[in-house]
Amino acid sequence: MTRIGFAYNQKPEPIAAESAAELARPDEEPPSSGSGLATLVAPAAAPDDEYAEWDSRETIDAVASALARYGDVIRLEATDDFPQTLRDARPDIVFNIAEGLRGPNREAHVPAICEFYGVPYSGSDPFTLALCLDKARTKEILRAHGVPTADWWLVRNSEDLRALASAMPALPLFAKPVHEGSSKGITEKNFVSSADSLGPVVLDLLERYDQPVIVETFLPGAEFTCGVLGNGGSAQVLPIVGMNFASLPAGALPIYGFEAKWLWDRPENPLDIFSCPAKISASLRAEIENVVLRAYHALGCRDWSRVDVRLDANGRANIVEVNPLPGILPDVADNSCLPKAARAAGLSYDGLIGACLVAAADRQGVALDGSAS
Ligand SMILES: Nc1ncnc2c1ncn2[C@@H]1O[C@H](COP(=O)(O)OP(=O)(O)OP(=O)(O)O)[C@@H](O)[C@H]1O
Ligand SMILES: [Mg+2]
Repeated sequence: MTRIGFAYNQKPEPIAAESAAELARPDEEPPSSGSGLATLVAPAAAPDDEYAEWDSRETIDAVASALARYGDVIRLEATDDFPQTLRDARPDIVFNIAEGLRGPNREAHVPAICEFYGVPYSGSDPFTLALCLDKARTKEILRAHGVPTADWWLVRNSEDLRALASAMPALPLFAKPVHEGSSKGITEKNFVSSADSLGPVVLDLLERYDQPVIVETFLPGAEFTCGVLGNGGSAQVLPIVGMNFASLPAGALPIYGFEAKWLWDRPENPLDIFSCPAKISASLRAEIENVVLRAYHALGCRDWSRVDVRLDANGRANIVEVNPLPGILPDVADNSCLPKAARAAGLSYDGLIGACLVAAADRQGVALDGSAS
């Protein structure tokens, strides 16, 4: 039998229970950078979103069950003893969804350990995972490859802020912590509509998130998110997910930020925010697919990813950011975009996980068991 190691970070149960009451959708992406946690024991006063990006038991069980079609699944929780358990397990391949513990390179740690021991693994390599958790560096690569993305300025301190304010770019702007995901630190307050509000917005983010702030030209058009599966010439964009901002509360800023993801979209009262396939013209679909695949390849993504896109003032598709370790919540009610896009393509949840594993195995010459291998 093929030995499939399965690497993940499981949300601590007590926090999961609290979070279920606090948060609508508990496991889209990784925890805050620099959390400094050595174990899975949660500090009593953990912020609500501390473990927002780790996976729930439900997601982990669903992935393990999908993988079981292809071999023996060996669960490898990515705790401190992961290197030793990986060595002892001797898997033929690791299926990786571990979001990591510490710092801006957290998503790169498990793949780097696999590389150190020469174990094949699924998904992007440590470089791409670390790169995509730096929104400014990601945009530098996109810009160098001619892939459209909004203009941006990196603000590391008050000196950078003064320089930006003195050359005040065209408004409106949008500010974000440079190393976060799951809309941590991304609320309506980050919308900069006047020169006077730039300083307070950026200083507040610098202080609260203890990392540089990326200030971008605000892209006023429609928003989409796109699942990608596969590698090289076979990489394909799944049916595009469109965002319906009219479903947000009246007067809300048209963004898919913290409020929409965590406060307004609740299982008992879900936001009808997504349509998939998005209702767009064939030419816009082709344009979006083109920029998404160019971004995927320019950044070195492998096997799967989810890419966010918005239209600029001229209606042109721009890359907002790229998620090489995408959220994969199994419950349809959770509105998780990659499984949703896969379903629209006729791929079940198991089919999505299988497609990623098969892409990774093919790429590395690993033989899988099962009829689908
Ligand atoms: N330059 C921009 N112009 C307009 N809206 C933006 C811009 N940047 C971000 N947004 C809005 O903020 C949302 C969150 O931004 P972004 O995708 O960068 O954050 P994230 O937390 O990494 O997201 P995810 O949950 O997908 O990981 C976007 O989906 C979009 O609605
Ligand atoms: Mg995003």
